[in-house]
Amino acid sequence: MSEMAEDEAVGETAKPPKAAEKGKEDRRSPGTAEEDFPLPDWVADWAREAPRIVVRAPGPKSKAIIKIDREYVSYAYDRCFTFTFEKASGASVMDADGNVLLDFTAGIGVENAGWTHPKVVKAIQDQASKLIHSMANDAYFDKEAFFAKLLHEISPGKALKGTFFGNSGAEAVEAAFKLSRYYTKRNEHVAFFGSYHGRIGAGLSLTSKLKLRYSYGPLLPGIVFTPYAYCYRCPFKQTYPECGLWCMDYLENQVLQMGGPTGQISSIVVEPIQGEGGYVVPPKDFLPKLKKICESQGALLIMDEVQTGFARTGRMFACEHFDVVPDILVMGKALGGGVPLGAIIAKNEIMKKWRPGSHSSTFGGTAITMAAGLAHVQAIIDEDLADRAEKLGAYAMKLLREMQQRREIIGDVRGKGLMIGVELVKNQYTKEPHEATTVQGKCWRGGLMTITSGIYGNVFRIAPPLCISKAQIEKSLQIFEQALKDEEEFLKIGTSSPPG
Ligand SMILES: Cc1ncc(COP(=O)(O)O)c(C=O)c1O
Repeated sequence: MSEMAEDEAVGETAKPPKAAEKGKEDRRSPGTAEEDFPLPDWVADWAREAPRIVVRAPGPKSKAIIKIDREYVSYAYDRCFTFTFEKASGASVMDADGNVLLDFTAGIGVENAGWTHPKVVKAIQDQASKLIHSMANDAYFDKEAFFAKLLHEISPGKALKGTFFGNSGAEAVEAAFKLSRYYTKRNEHVAFFGSYHGRIGAGLSLTSKLKLRYSYGPLLPGIVFTPYAYCYRCPFKQTYPECGLWCMDYLENQVLQMGGPTGQISSIVVEPIQGEGGYVVPPKDFLPKLKKICESQGALLIMDEVQTGFARTGRMFACEHFDVVPDILVMGKALGGGVPLGAIIAKNEIMKKWRPGSHSSTFGGTAITMAAGLAHVQAIIDEDLADRAEKLGAYAMKLLREMQQRREIIGDVRGKGLMIGVELVKNQYTKEPHEATTVQGKCWRGGLMTITSGIYGNVFRIAPPLCISKAQIEKSLQIFEQALKDEEEFLKIGTSSPPG
């Protein structure tokens, strides 16, 4: 990944903000407008002032709503934020009591172009006044056709053609799973430790974490799990590159040969960068090797880009970093820009195998979601957000690596583009995980909304809307570091030394 190169600096210095803009970007560092990556013009004024804490959350309005919610809404939701949403714009959110927070979550990888992007809002409003539901199973609709054409055009290497639309990431995984069985007429699959593919059916069966699988068995048979290239915590206690990708050797020569499947592998399902597993970036040769294993097995490679897709990692799709084109690509989250939408796109000969009626859904491909998704993806393209994510991500990564030198609680920093994981440890030598919840709470109090992931719940996801400004990244990371510092002081972390 290229760092935001210093030699990209051009001689011109930033013009002082116009009177009307005063206060909008008052934390700008010197440099050109391009280097500053200011917020787009459409971002609301209140959102430019983030963070602004007016009352300790949850404030009275939030409290009143939460009281009703706790009585009537299912307890299954695992809410980590005790506030109620009021509105959001750009890279900031406001709660019901008027607190404004900077956002490092993008609504969990959904709002890539920015919260409440005007083109998405307009597309929804215009479409809603004409037609909300378009009976995608039974009738044709212009935006569905246009959107599928656009997805073909932006697919890795323009090599995938034929989209099936559903309502969520998990439903898209289900569609990929069914298509792979339908095409190969086989029924075994490989998935990875640390994987997350959704909470229903095939997605849950392909998800590795015990907490999420607990008490739902028996899940779908025919799925074997194998270690991902989580090099910071290699289960084989190896070091890359000296290991020569031991995990791939283990898959090829142990799992697939001994006591695993019966040689009927339909597909291998993988996230190009693990999301819920802890923003784990595999080495460059991991996915190419996996592709070769698929070919040798006559199995399809299903790439789940629900969390990594649509410019998040500095490319339209993360698999482009690894020069691997999957047989089936799974999309969700940012595909809809906030409306419920998931989809798969596949090599055309694979997608063409499905006959009319092989798979369907009442709402998949319906008008309102097509209008919103098309507008969101078009905005990502028009605003070149992949480039912005790459450059701002490199800058954030640089700041975080410097922070790691100062903060012993940071065990690892890894990522691509604006998908960066910061793994917390109690001790950098022993790598004992430090669960992130209390730091998350401290960030929250400081005005930064963050979410965590990882098998030990100790990885911060730095995944803001891609329209975030450079100044907002700097401000957010200051809040983050203060929270880490407070936690270190509380836990007396900072005196670690090698064991023995
Ligand atoms: C990689 C991946 N696949 C699938 C899903 C499931 O998507 P959804 O929650 O829309 O069903 C997620 C959700 O976080 C995900 O990160």
